[in-house]
Amino acid sequence: MSENYVIIFDTTLRDGEQSPGASLEVQEKLMLAMQLARLNVDVIEAGFPISSPAQFDAVKLIAQEVKGPVIAGLARSLALDIDRCWEAVRFAKKPRIHTFIATSQVHVKHKLRKSEDEILEMAVAAVKRAKGYCEDVEFSPEDSSRTGKDFLFRIIEAVIDAGATVINIPDTVGYSNPEEFGNLIREIREKVPNINQAILSVHCHNDLGMAVANSLSAIRNGAQQVECTINGIGERAGNASLEEIVMALKTRKDFYGKETRIRTEEIMKTSRMVSHLTGIVVQPNKAIVGANAFAHESGIHQDAVLKDARTYEIMTPQSIGLATNKIVLGRHSGRHGLKKRLEDLGYKLSAEELDKIYQRFMELADKKKEIFDEDLAVIVEDITREIKEVYHLEYFHVFSGNNTIPTATVGIKVNEKLLHEAACGDGPVDAAYKAIDKIVQLPVKLEDYTLRAVTSGKDALGEVGVTVAKDDKRVYGRGTSTDVLEASIKAYLNALNRLTTMINQKGK
Ligand code: KIV
Ligand code: ZN
Repeated sequence: MSENYVIIFDTTLRDGEQSPGASLEVQEKLMLAMQLARLNVDVIEAGFPISSPAQFDAVKLIAQEVKGPVIAGLARSLALDIDRCWEAVRFAKKPRIHTFIATSQVHVKHKLRKSEDEILEMAVAAVKRAKGYCEDVEFSPEDSSRTGKDFLFRIIEAVIDAGATVINIPDTVGYSNPEEFGNLIREIREKVPNINQAILSVHCHNDLGMAVANSLSAIRNGAQQVECTINGIGERAGNASLEEIVMALKTRKDFYGKETRIRTEEIMKTSRMVSHLTGIVVQPNKAIVGANAFAHESGIHQDAVLKDARTYEIMTPQSIGLATNKIVLGRHSGRHGLKKRLEDLGYKLSAEELDKIYQRFMELADKKKEIFDEDLAVIVEDITREIKEVYHLEYFHVFSGNNTIPTATVGIKVNEKLLHEAACGDGPVDAAYKAIDKIVQLPVKLEDYTLRAVTSGKDALGEVGVTVAKDDKRVYGRGTSTDVLEASIKAYLNALNRLTTMINQKGK
């Protein structure tokens, strides 16, 4: 591995799976490991074989099936752990045993209740045992960043002499900061005499939100491998996020002067797979892979991005596997963003029409967070076709329950005349729509029905969108209300009014 490459050690399947609530089936782990191989990580830590039969099976299966990366398994510095770990990883073309023991005073005294000399002996014995099985042995002094430096340097030197090929320095509880952690890595390089015989690695947790910054600082100070997870998942506040480290190195190569072998175009796909399989959602403003990471809402920003994306994008969406950036139309969007979206949707509008549409757009944007293309279609039609409200809802009653036949009565004004009808249906919406059909007498097909909340809270406004078709004509209708039934009826009538306008205009 050339000096310019940082080794990416992915521990999504081991430390990531230790996230509260995340537990993966063996087959799901295999699927993820395959994707990690496509992403081209250098090392996959596939699990902790002694911790359960399922963990063992997953590590073994991944070792058997996944080609390319080194496959590592975790083991405490105990003979039984190491033997079990080897049983699982030995099927890999490039196996690694990763053994660890805590070295900080608080862990040594209160968790392990041993002396430092006993810990050092256990570490050396574990590395020697692992070395008896496999050439590639990683050792981690757990809680390194809170370990006394003399003992830390002493144990590192001893395990390298015992055969460790990788020394990993964990900031186990995310206690450190970039300056301090970088200095620690530099000091290890300077003060441990045999350090050049091993690869120096770091493993940072995110308790104070500095896992990525600490990892990057470590790289600046001589770390050659970083341990990280997709979406930054992991114990407590998580681990350093793989995608953030990789994209920081790529985007700021001028500063770090380092590369990785990651196929960055696979990042988004991997992130989505991890989120989907673990059930851990990615926060929208998460760097690189959050839903808003490449979304622009401010009018000034939209205008600039449309002229030249480099104004507000330091990396391209394509570089992480997204097809394009996202111009979010909402309250802060300007006329330019709106005009561009309308053009993209194929509308050719006069300046006067655009003025009116912009006005209506702003009114709607005050009520809902994001304006979708279907909303624009409704506004454009309203402005350009002058939709007439032929059918107007006067009232509705719905009778529904879990063991009764849903029935609806509706009163609709048609050209100033009030008409009433009642009908039964599969559900209350279906019953109401059937009652409306009896009044309107326009045979239509309901092709699509969607319901979404446009504001939050218990009294959220619900918005219903329906697509209604008759012969070759297809229209979209929208209705909003705090009552979803009312929203549903309004949406249907809105669509029927549009359809009627369309039919009447064609007939003229
Ligand atoms: O955070 C930690 O210290 C670990 C070690 C087992 C490497 O996950
Ligand atoms: Zn960890």
